[in-house]
Amino acid sequence: MIVVTGATGNVGRPLVQALAAAGEQVTAVSRGSRGDAAMPEGVRHRRADLNDAESLRPVLDGADALFLHDGGGAAQAFSAAEVLDVAKAGGVGRVVLLSSIGVLTRPESVSHGQVLRAREEAVRQSGLEWTILRPGGFDSNAYAWAESVRTQRTVAAPFGDVGLPTVDPDDIAEVAAAVPGGKGHGGRAYELTGPALSTPRQNAEAIGAALGEPVRFVERTAEQAREQLLQFMPEAVAVTTLAVLGTPTAAELRISPDIELLLGRPARPFAAWAERNIAAFR
Ligand SMILES: NC(=O)c1ccc[n+]([C@@H]2O[C@H](COP(=O)([O-])OP(=O)(O)OC[C@H]3O[C@@H](n4cnc5c(N)ncnc54)[C@H](OP(=O)(O)O)[C@@H]3O)[C@@H](O)[C@H]2O)c1
Repeated sequence: MIVVTGATGNVGRPLVQALAAAGEQVTAVSRGSRGDAAMPEGVRHRRADLNDAESLRPVLDGADALFLHDGGGAAQAFSAAEVLDVAKAGGVGRVVLLSSIGVLTRPESVSHGQVLRAREEAVRQSGLEWTILRPGGFDSNAYAWAESVRTQRTVAAPFGDVGLPTVDPDDIAEVAAAVPGGKGHGGRAYELTGPALSTPRQNAEAIGAALGEPVRFVERTAEQAREQLLQFMPEAVAVTTLAVLGTPTAAELRISPDIELLLGRPARPFAAWAERNIAAFR
């Protein structure tokens, strides 16, 4: 049995679906703050909080593998070491951790680098067979534009012509689904990016193409973007986020071959994510 934490999120939801479709026995875990989302047939949803490792004990008891992540943000406080101790006690043998490319590209940043680096260390020290997934920015971050596209057919964002190789969460999920059962992934870390650099202006165009209506792009200044980000994230996180979006490092611009190597097909471009998720923008 495979336990998937973060099971109602951008990655967890398609991961649960992929594992269930492959015939795996799956337990889906979240705190239930989005309601107890509908799960595929045969998948049990259990409420537990990663910040309270003991709440996972009944869920992890008897499991073989654990897919570990949360939504980031304030919940990043959870202790991976405590969760992994509970997992081991329950008989779990393998763990797949969703980390971030920021561990490599922004090692000095607490939010983008250090918290997840500590989580990776806990996984390495756990004695479990481990695999680490390090995605770049997600295509699904574009949900932040959904309301302005719905109401004004407008995307307002900074750094309109700076491209990044954002990754489709469904591709991350497909990799994660392949890893626990697959041989040769133990002790490996994979970098997961999209197939090409895509700019916010191009992404707005792709949403417009999927809608069948033009979407206007309005360039925000870095200061306007900072003020907006500060409404829902601490200053240090906003500063690093803007640095990634505006002045990405060479490592953040690198297009990784790992998705194609692991799945035997190219990573999906942003336009494909927009087409599949266009209902949120209508
Ligand atoms: N977005 C990016 O660009 C990016 C880039 C690199 C890495 N990442 C990493 O990707 C992860 C985010 O993935 P995502 O987009 O799939 O997240 P998401 O859509 O925000 O979903 C988060 C999931 O985790 C659950 N969750 C959150 N806190 C929890 C807790 N304390 N205990 C149990 N479950 C909890 C949520 O459900 P409940 O709220 O109901 O518990 C939900 O199921 C983060 O770890 C982040 O560091 C993101």
